[in-house]
Parts: sequence; C-alpha cells; structure tokens
Amino acid sequence: MITGQFPIARFETLETPFYYYDMAVLTDTLRAVNKERSEVEGPMAPFAVHYAVKACSTPAVLQTIAQAGLGADCVSGGEVRAAIEAGFNADKIVFAGVAKSDREIRYALEQGIFCFNVESMEELEVISSLASEMGVRARVCLRVNPNINAHTHDKITTGLSENKFGIPMRFLNEAVALCYRLPAIDFLGLHFHIGSQITDMTPFVHLAERINELVAEVEQMTCKDPDGKAVQPVVRHINVGGGLGILYEHPNHFPIPDFKAYFDTWRSHLHLRADQQVHCELGRSIVAQCGNLITRVLYVKKGENKQFAIVDAGMNDLIRPAMYGAFHRVENITHPEKEEQLYDIVGPVCESSDVFVENYRIAAVQRGDLLAMRSAGAYGETMASQYNLRRLPGHVIS
Ligand code: LLP
Repeated sequence: MITGQFPIARFETLETPFYYYDMAVLTDTLRAVNKERSEVEGPMAPFAVHYAVKACSTPAVLQTIAQAGLGADCVSGGEVRAAIEAGFNADKIVFAGVAKSDREIRYALEQGIFCFNVESMEELEVISSLASEMGVRARVCLRVNPNINAHTHDKITTGLSENKFGIPMRFLNEAVALCYRLPAIDFLGLHFHIGSQITDMTPFVHLAERINELVAEVEQMTCKDPDGKAVQPVVRHINVGGGLGILYEHPNHFPIPDFKAYFDTWRSHLHLRADQQVHCELGRSIVAQCGNLITRVLYVKKGENKQFAIVDAGMNDLIRPAMYGAFHRVENITHPEKEEQLYDIVGPVCESSDVFVENYRIAAVQRGDLLAMRSAGAYGETMASQYNLRRLPGHVIS
C-alpha cells in the first residue's frame, strides 16, 4: 500500500494547523495486527493487544480501534473514561501508571476493568483497601522493572533500574506474597514495559528471557492467603508492554510496522503453557502512520546562511522534534512537483528549539503552501499544548 494521498481541496477550506487521520491506513494497520496476533499454534490463545490510548485519543481513532476488537491500555482515569466512551469493553482495559490516585482507582473498580498494572507494594495496599471498602475484588498484574536496556532514546527508556517504573526484581517475591495476603486482590500475573520506538527485536528477546526466569521463580513460591492457608502462585497473564517502533523515514512505502517479527519474537522466546495468556500494549505502531500534521507556510525567510520555511504549526502542536530530537518527514503537498531546495522548517513559538527539521530538502515552498508532517499520529495531538496561548490544533478524519 502507498500512502500520502491528501485531499488538498478539502484542506484549503480548513484553518491550519490540524491533524489529519487517514482511516484507510489505520484500518489496514489494524487488519495486520489482528492477523499476526492470531497466528498461534495448538491450544495457545491469540495475543491480547491493548491499544495504548496515550498515543492518540482522538474519539474516531479510538472507536475504530475498539471496533477492531482490541483492548485498551490506560494511564489515567481520563483515559479509562475515554476508552469506555469509545466502546472498549471494560473487561479488556488495563490500567498502568506509577501514581494512580484514589479517585482513579475507585473509578476503574466501579467500571470493572480487566486489571491494574501495579507499580509498587504501597499502591497494592491502597488498591486492596479501596476495593474492600467498595466490596469488590481488584485483579492485578505486578509491573516488574526488568532492568533491560531498550537501546532507544533516553527519554523513552523505562525498563532500567534507574527509572521510576515498576517493582524492582528483588522485591518481586515480597510483592507477590503481599498480593495473596491482602484481602481484596486477585493476582493475575506479571507486566513489563521497557521503552518505546524499538525497531530491533533484540531487547524484546532479552525481555522474554528475563520473563521466563521470573515466571519460574514466582511459581516456585509458596504464599499464604488471608486465612494463612498455603497457596502456590500461578502466572496466568504475561503482559509484555508496548514499544514496537515504526519507520519515520518511510511513511509512504512501509506504513505498516513489522508485526510479524514482533509476535514471532514472543512466540519463539517465551516459554508458554496453554493456560497462559500473553498481552501487549502497542501504541505508536498502531497509530503513528495514519496521522499527519497539516500546516501552512507563513513566510519564507532568508537567514545569513540559510533559508527558513516558517510554518503556522509550532512545537506546541508537535513537540517530538524539540523534546526527543525526533525526525518527521515533511512534504510540500501543494507543490510536490517543484524542484527541491534546502530549508530549516521552523514554527512560530518563541523558543529556539521550535524547529521541526534542519537543512532539509523539500520541493520549493512559497507562502500559502500546505505541508504535511508525516508519521505524527502517535504522541502528536495527545502531547499538544497551548503554550504561547496558541489554540490546540484539532483534527480532521478522512
Ligand atoms: N505500555 C506502557 C506501560 C507505556 O508506558 C507505553 C508508552 C506503552 C505501553 C506504549 O508504548 P508504544 O507502543 O507506543 O511504544 N512520547 C514519546 C513516547 C512515550 C511512550 C510512553 N509510554 C514519543 O513521542 O516518542
């Protein structure tokens, strides 16, 4: 499939900047995920994919993902609410985050979500006491910090022991024992997430090996239930988190990430039994390529040694280049036929980091041209702010 076809006439009637979601790309991506997650052998259950709502929570996008049968991975009460409103079944919702508030925990318990990914023993105690007060039980997976380097950008690495996320491995047994001792907790299994934008499968192989060790260790334990009776923990659910990366350089030729390689990695490296279910929480790989930030050129300005294309979108609309040094391909969609020239493409915000790309070749631009910033569906609109009192970008669906 080739993407990158834009309805320019429609765009001309709209106020820029805005996010444009190409639903054909999204549905093709969802078809690919559903196909690959279901390729399982024997009695093994298909992988359960929970879409990471933080990547893009635009209602039409969420609804399409819910209709495709995926679950949702949420990190706030607001995301749990958005997922439920978009049609995700509560029994496919997982709720992670290092700092869930009492209000958020109560709300998720009321909704009957599938499980909490719990990040500390302190949180476990709070969830148990709130569930007891409400007369319900809370299903939990323990989020373990596996100390695995995802070899991705520092700011999106989560699985190292210096990161704030998850329960350190040396406290895992204690946390499992606590799950069984507490009156309102059902222990389902283990949860992991090592980072984002991972395109080489090696870190996932390392994580799978670590998971095999930890599952074996936990299942060798003997715990005590609240009445002091001995119980053997069983890890029925293994959640490997998200993190599959995309090709930012090639949105037109490789819009669908390599889901086969991703699921094959887990299939070949996790030691699984038929009574175990693997879950994952993909965000970026599902929505990045369907989204584009559409912006208009305001000025073409000559600098001392360079040429600036100044556009009406700023770092408040798409913060990834300023925050992570991320690359987004930019295309002149009004005049794609023009001969290429070299530009720094910059925004209007009063910060020198409000630069989308430097020394970049693009079909020559003039005032009024529309540009598409590609692969911006994940962590684009959801991270937008009103800095400089600018309006939020808003969105258009194909
Ligand atoms: N599960 C957990 C626990 C997470 O923290 C994340 C992302 C995901 C799943 C989804 O990861 P994905 O499949 O999208 O890689 N704003 C950054 C990315 C931050 C990712 C945060 N956690 C960016 O723009 O690159």
